[in-house]
Amino acid sequence: MELDLRNKVVVVTGAARGIGAVIAQRFAGEGSTVVAFDLAFPDPAEEPVAAHPVEQVLCNVTDPESVQAAVDEVARRHGTIDVLVNNAGINVEGPVAEIAWERWKACFDVNVGGVFLMSQAVAPLMQAAGGGRIINAASFAAIVPSVASAAYSASKSAVVQLTRVLASELGPWDITVNAYAPGMVPTAMNGFAEMPTEAQDRLLDTLSLRRWESPDDVANLLIFLASDAASYITGTLLDVSGGKLATQIPARAYGR
Ligand code: NAI
Repeated sequence: MELDLRNKVVVVTGAARGIGAVIAQRFAGEGSTVVAFDLAFPDPAEEPVAAHPVEQVLCNVTDPESVQAAVDEVARRHGTIDVLVNNAGINVEGPVAEIAWERWKACFDVNVGGVFLMSQAVAPLMQAAGGGRIINAASFAAIVPSVASAAYSASKSAVVQLTRVLASELGPWDITVNAYAPGMVPTAMNGFAEMPTEAQDRLLDTLSLRRWESPDDVANLLIFLASDAASYITGTLLDVSGGKLATQIPARAYGR
């Protein structure tokens, strides 16, 4: 099966670091023209040279003017946007009793509002082109939430419902809209890899595939979703969590 993404214009939000940076590199490796959106980018002098070229545009996905200006800039440079990956997200932790209202709102502004604004700005380009792909970062937390993750889990569940509605509204233009649910990818957002061994073991024991997820595991799914091979998949939430809690105690299979 050929997943040909050459000549596609791909925008990845939140792509200055973490999973988004790898997603951007992987699409660029497939021959796509990739534009990374983020609040700021690292100094290139302090970064290893990237394997593939990725353009950078400053964009705050919570700000309608910033979003429109960034989308207009891509349209000016490349004419259209074929694939939008709404990866930008923040984690707000804490029990409901303690989450400050401002933090709650910030979580929804980025995680849900960002998907809303970006999709609203990019959809007209895709409609004019008669097709496109919107791929939204949800989370396993949208399937089973954790204690002290009310803001994050609720925001990611909202992303799933927004995805379904967008899929139906944009279906007439052959634009597919899907969400994906990673499980546990060690990044700056969660610090999994820096936790004490026992804490890491407790988390790994929830996985059928008892290993941390890599950003490439996520990127592999996204490349498929962006390709012609996935043209009949829309409105779904795809679990890419390594079988997190697929069974009640997956660690039993490992004799733990
Ligand atoms: P990260 O914190 O390493 O990277 C997030 C990026 O989003 C950063 O570059 C940040 O500057 C950018 N960003 C934040 N607010 C923004 C805004 N207002 N406008 C533009 N960019 C903004 O996070 P990570 O771990 O790479 O996560 C990426 C996505 O995957 C997020 O949506 C996250 O919720 C989701 N996810 C991550 C999981 C994990 O285990 N790391 C698990 C499930 C979902």
